[in-house]
Amino acid sequence: MSRKLFVTTALPYANAPFHIGHIMEYIQADIWVRYQRMQKDAGKPREVYFVGADDVHGAPIMIAAEKAGKTPAEFVAGIAAGRAEHLDGFLIKFDNWHSTDGPENHELSKSIYKRLRERGLIYTKTIEQFFDPVKSMFLPDRYIKGECPKCGAKDQYGDSCEVCSSVYTPTELKNPYSVLTGAAPVMRQSEHYFFKLSDPQCTEFLKSWTLGQGSDKSRLQPEVANKAREWLGGDENKALSDWDISRDAPYFGIEIPDAPGKFFYVWLDAPIGYLASLKNLFNKKGMDFEAFLADPETEQYHFIGKDIIYFHTLFWPAMLHFAGRKVPDNVFVHGFVTVDGEKMSKSRGTGISPLRYLEIGMNPEWLRYYLAAKLTDRVEDIDFTGDDFIARVNADLIGKYVNIASRAAGFITKRFGGQLNLGPEGKDAPILKTLRDATDEISGYFEHREYGRALRQIMHLADEVNVYVDANKPWVLAKDPAQSDNLQQVCSRLLEAFRILTIYLKPVLPAVAEKVEQFLNIAPINWDDVANVLPDGHTINTYQHLMQRVDQKMLDALFNKEAEPAKKADQPKAKAEKAAPAPAGFEPLAPEITIDDFAKVDMRVGKIVACDYVEGAKKLLRLSVDLGEGRVRNIFSGIRSAYKPEDLVGKLTVVVANLAPRKMKFGISEGMVMAASAEGDDGIYLLEPMSGAKPGMRLS
Ligand code: 2FM
Ligand code: ZN
Repeated sequence: MSRKLFVTTALPYANAPFHIGHIMEYIQADIWVRYQRMQKDAGKPREVYFVGADDVHGAPIMIAAEKAGKTPAEFVAGIAAGRAEHLDGFLIKFDNWHSTDGPENHELSKSIYKRLRERGLIYTKTIEQFFDPVKSMFLPDRYIKGECPKCGAKDQYGDSCEVCSSVYTPTELKNPYSVLTGAAPVMRQSEHYFFKLSDPQCTEFLKSWTLGQGSDKSRLQPEVANKAREWLGGDENKALSDWDISRDAPYFGIEIPDAPGKFFYVWLDAPIGYLASLKNLFNKKGMDFEAFLADPETEQYHFIGKDIIYFHTLFWPAMLHFAGRKVPDNVFVHGFVTVDGEKMSKSRGTGISPLRYLEIGMNPEWLRYYLAAKLTDRVEDIDFTGDDFIARVNADLIGKYVNIASRAAGFITKRFGGQLNLGPEGKDAPILKTLRDATDEISGYFEHREYGRALRQIMHLADEVNVYVDANKPWVLAKDPAQSDNLQQVCSRLLEAFRILTIYLKPVLPAVAEKVEQFLNIAPINWDDVANVLPDGHTINTYQHLMQRVDQKMLDALFNKEAEPAKKADQPKAKAEKAAPAPAGFEPLAPEITIDDFAKVDMRVGKIVACDYVEGAKKLLRLSVDLGEGRVRNIFSGIRSAYKPEDLVGKLTVVVANLAPRKMKFGISEGMVMAASAEGDDGIYLLEPMSGAKPGMRLS
């Protein structure tokens, strides 16, 4: 019987394109899935279904759609349209990509809810909540701001203070206001629906699911199990809080059965979206979705980030279990991506745009390899640094791996008509045996998501092959006609070694593996092909270049230090470039935009009312900027190298005011201040309007 796997990644909110954190998670899962697809159980290929979807419901998306002048459905469709470009670009191969607003999710969410209700686990309670009288809607905590009840800091969110870190409820804020309209919110009562997680049967089930029973070890990663133990009260039975699963209209979501005007909170229907995407796939294939999930042999795994553990280890298994459904076999949790040690953000000089990476012609397999080399089975952040990226890709992939083929292939093609001959030892040559003997170890590393270890072991093997090259010196053998057979055998062994290394690397480098299959003239390779061999007399095709080295210029272009990316430099010159050549050092202009494109950017005059250093951030200053809108915005800017906080307080500047708020390690940034900079000049110059300009004035 072959294993059957149902694998997902967390469903991204459909309010923005993918960021590098999404891409990292998808690459992690894609490598695992590709590894699984290369396996056979008792000669039968493993059955793997890898699905994703957009997580489209909830208040933030509804509000973003409204701001964009679109219906939520139109708005999320626009975001969804950009998904394939990223996924294809990074060779991430989902079997299906769906939406949590699809009919399957409406139906499954309602049916799971009804089962929970039948089990007596749903009840209603009237709660008091802030209501925006202008917008006529209840306000989620994040849409209320005010003064921190503990330290008095202004403009703090309704759930926690970013200045003193205290946590509170929105009702404790002083002088609260609605972020949507600026109006003072009023308290209103509303009936909400709750999932009774405090029920002892829930605690009992979740303890056993998260921590194991008796001698059974926890299925979860140690860090995740520790969290679960903390939430579930260790050895004492601590009741979990009941979970508020309803939201009042207006809300973009799924209506609760028998409860007009009430919708499921987005986090109820989001994970059900995993099932809905699978169901959608099975419907398209004419397969039985319920039978697949009811099969006790089916294994279900979710790759997620460390910020959503609570939802996936408590709410999600409990929902499924008490609805009488299959529960996940495990959740695989990863950390965040940092860039040069800083939590990524789109502000100046930090963060990596996945699309820019692709647009400037960087190879997706470099990133797949680099991230894989850093991934472990632990919940650890992964740091991207440019120098490390260049060193690792060039030294490992080009220096150790690709070079083996390029050093051997020419001799075989030119001297032996492309024909291989491994010599009397055949596949038992010691170097080949060393490579084959590592198969179980490497396989175990991939299975347990220890990709870093797998790649270290593979590169160690590549080192051994290179030692073999240096010991046998094909370029010396080539000068002696008496050594012709020896030359053919040495180079054939090298190509056979290269084939085995390619099998091991295929989950990480699927496109290179395909090129190698073409070059070696072999069928698509699977894991059990390690035991086979390229037979004597087999003819290879001419070697085609497999991979380029990374160039520092590309990293500069990626981080925007140089506007002209490598790939674009090769493209035909655009019309505008026929004008007189720009002086050397002039940064080429960005692609032409229309006046409508420009009108989308709302730039306002702002007054810097306060400014501070940000502890732990080498490049940032925190600015409090008044745009004349009745509140003060918190904006982080990478201008610390150029200004002292005291120099900026009281100055006017220009702010991109309609930029989506960005969550950074140090808090939320609510806009971007405009500054000028240039290649070859270390300075950063903040924009200051001429006298007479007032906060709130729009630039046009
Ligand atoms: O945190 C997020 O980005 C959520 N959209 C993840 C949802 S995962 C699953 F539950 F759908
Ligand atoms: Zn505070």
